[in-house]
Formats: sequence, structure tokens, C-alpha cells
Amino acid sequence: MNMGKDVIIACDFAGRNETLDFLSLFTGNKPFVKIGMELFYAEGPEIVREIKNRGHKIFLDLKLHDIPNTVGKAMRVLSGLDVDMCNLHAAGGSEMMRAALAGLTRSNGTRPLLIAVTQLTSTTPQMLKNELLIDSSMNDTVISYAQNAAACGLDGVVCSPLEAGIVHDACGAEFLTVTPGVRFAGGDVGDQARVTTPERAKLLGSDYIVVGRPVTTSENPVSAYERCIKEFVSEV
Ligand code: C5P
Repeated sequence: MNMGKDVIIACDFAGRNETLDFLSLFTGNKPFVKIGMELFYAEGPEIVREIKNRGHKIFLDLKLHDIPNTVGKAMRVLSGLDVDMCNLHAAGGSEMMRAALAGLTRSNGTRPLLIAVTQLTSTTPQMLKNELLIDSSMNDTVISYAQNAAACGLDGVVCSPLEAGIVHDACGAEFLTVTPGVRFAGGDVGDQARVTTPERAKLLGSDYIVVGRPVTTSENPVSAYERCIKEFVSEV
């Protein structure tokens, strides 16, 4: 199932025009893009179809987390959109993850990749302990959530690049690690906590890096994206 390394641009824009203006900058290869809650809630499924028709692969990042029946039925709806990857929170538990996988699988047996969020890359070890009341370490928590997701048949997890290695050690090289929390050396971290550079994410074993603001707010988004590809994908 492991499809090779790629850079996914998080299109965290408020609406259609802004998003399509941004994507129009990419006149060569069409980047793999992530559509998150902001854009999806603003524009609905039509924006997914429109971006797909322009030739982009799509990670639909809606992070579902609800009772198994609700998530299973929601995933059935999402499976009708021709996305390449979608996700949920592993914290919803094994029954929810299995229901999601069943809902996502089309009658012909095909489905998008299904990835589980372990702990958000904005979550600090202090928050884990004091707010989520989880006494295990961040690494142990991420490993345990990843193992639950793997046991349910999911394709991988969303985690920090800093955790990609331990997830592969625990769940195998083929189990995908999709890693936000990527910043260029010396760049603005913003609200992310567990971050690293594209180059280091590659060394740490990430399969996909998800990069938002370092590309979308750059003065030259195409060259920022190409820098990510050069650091993360290129064999140099
Ligand atoms: O702008 P930035 O590079 O921080 O964007 C990261 C993207 O990845 C955002 O769209 C955010 O919602 C998403 N994400 C994350 N941490 C997770 C899961 C998704 O930052 N654990």
C-alpha cells in the first residue's frame, strides 16, 4: 500500500476563489492537496470535485470522531467523492475505526486510504497530561493509537515527523506516516508544537509531509513547494 514519498499542500483557505487562485499558480505538476474543515465547510463537496477535476490528488482532512454508526455512515457518503485519502481520530476507538473502514469501502472493493490522527501536532506533552489526563508519554500514546489503527486495518496515521520512526518500528514500514508540523529551518512555528524540517522529516521516515502556511503564505508558493519536494522527495 505504501506509495512513495510526497508533499501534500494544506489548502487552508476560506473559500473557492482563493483556493483556485492559489492552485492556478502551479502550472507544472499538480501537487497533492489537503482539503480541511475550513474549505469543506465553506464550499461543500463541490470544491472537492472541482479540485479533483483539475488533476490533483486529494487528502480530505475532516478528522471524523463520533459514535461508530455515525462515522460509518458519514464515511459511506465520503466514499462517493473520488478522494485519495481521508481520516478520523484514533481516539474514537477500534469499533469506530472498523465502522469507518466498512463505510468507506465501495461495492467494488475500492476505497480511499484511511488514516488515523494519533495526537494533534499542536498537542504538547503538558496538554496530554494536564488536559487530556493521559499519563503515558507522547511517544507511548502515539504508538498505542497507531497499533490500534493498524489492528483495525487502517493504512496509516497522522503524527508528528518526530514520531514517524517509532510508528514504523511498531507497525511496519508499509504502515503510512502522514506528518504535519513541518517548517523550514528558521521559519515561523505558529501554533504547531512538535515540528521539524522537510529534510529531517525524510530522514525520520515520514511517508507524506503535510505543509500549509510555509507554502500558502510564502511570497513565492511554487518555489516554497519545490523546496519541500527537493528536501523531502528528491534523491540527492
Ligand atoms: O499551516 P500548517 O503547516 O501548520 O498546516 C498543517 C495542517 O495539517 C493543518 O491543515 C492542520 O489542520 C493539519 N493537521 C495538523 N496536525 C494533525 C493533523 C492535521 O496540523 N495532527
